[in-house]
Amino acid sequence: MNSKAMKESAQYIESKLEGKPAIGLILGSGLGVLAEEIEDPIVIPYKSVPHFPESTVSGHKGQLVAGRLEGKQVIAMQGRFHFYEGYRMDQVTFPVRVMKLLGVEELLVTNAAGGINEQFEPGDLMLIEDHINNMGTNPLIGPNDEEIGPRFPDMSQAYSRELLKHARKCAEELDLSIQQGVYVGNTGPTYETGAEVKMLRTLGGDAVGMSTVPEVIVAAHMGIKVLGISCISNMAAGILDQPLSHQEVIETTERVRQDFLSFVKKIVKTLP
Ligand code: HPA
Repeated sequence: MNSKAMKESAQYIESKLEGKPAIGLILGSGLGVLAEEIEDPIVIPYKSVPHFPESTVSGHKGQLVAGRLEGKQVIAMQGRFHFYEGYRMDQVTFPVRVMKLLGVEELLVTNAAGGINEQFEPGDLMLIEDHINNMGTNPLIGPNDEEIGPRFPDMSQAYSRELLKHARKCAEELDLSIQQGVYVGNTGPTYETGAEVKMLRTLGGDAVGMSTVPEVIVAAHMGIKVLGISCISNMAAGILDQPLSHQEVIETTERVRQDFLSFVKKIVKTLP
């Protein structure tokens, strides 16, 4: 955790911003379109920000977009850094650290995930109630800066109950049927085997993906309230008799784009 680098990144971003963002958004695979809804956008490519890593996977853009969404000042990551790309955990979570310095108090994290729960269908949106860190490491390993957060952070409320309640209410008002469940974070980049999916189901997982967990751990460390939404882009391996592909993930997220957009906009608009 390099607080000097964090401060330098935040100062650079602040020098470009007009308002102070209280809401952060992390937009996953195929969900970056939400950034296009931001009014008076200020676009800051990751590569221009001191100390920011650069995003490499297709379907992810690699820029910050700041501005107003439904009347609220937001800052969005259009594309994120994944552990499987070879970034260290402190790099994967660096932007969340910087968001905190910019004033972000609530973080909306999104991702595309495979459905483990057999009641799910591709195209479902799932509120993340809790997660299982199956990445074999933790972004907080290493020296701890007590000024930033505690050595042993509580994770029992990593996903804000208040925000979950708010999101459920928004879904109801939109007449949008949504799922809720436990997100398992794997490292990737391979999709799971059928046996692994069976194991994850036994362990209590409802959806599986390759992101989110590190960012949420770091947000919890800093006391940022988190709301997580998974777009179930495919059924996880072994459920249907067909191979998985990144193409399918992108196609499904495109198909549910409208629901996803109205849901997130409603959540942001009426955020408590
Ligand atoms: N597994 C892991 N990550 C994913 C999947 C999946 O099935 N779909 C989208 N991201």
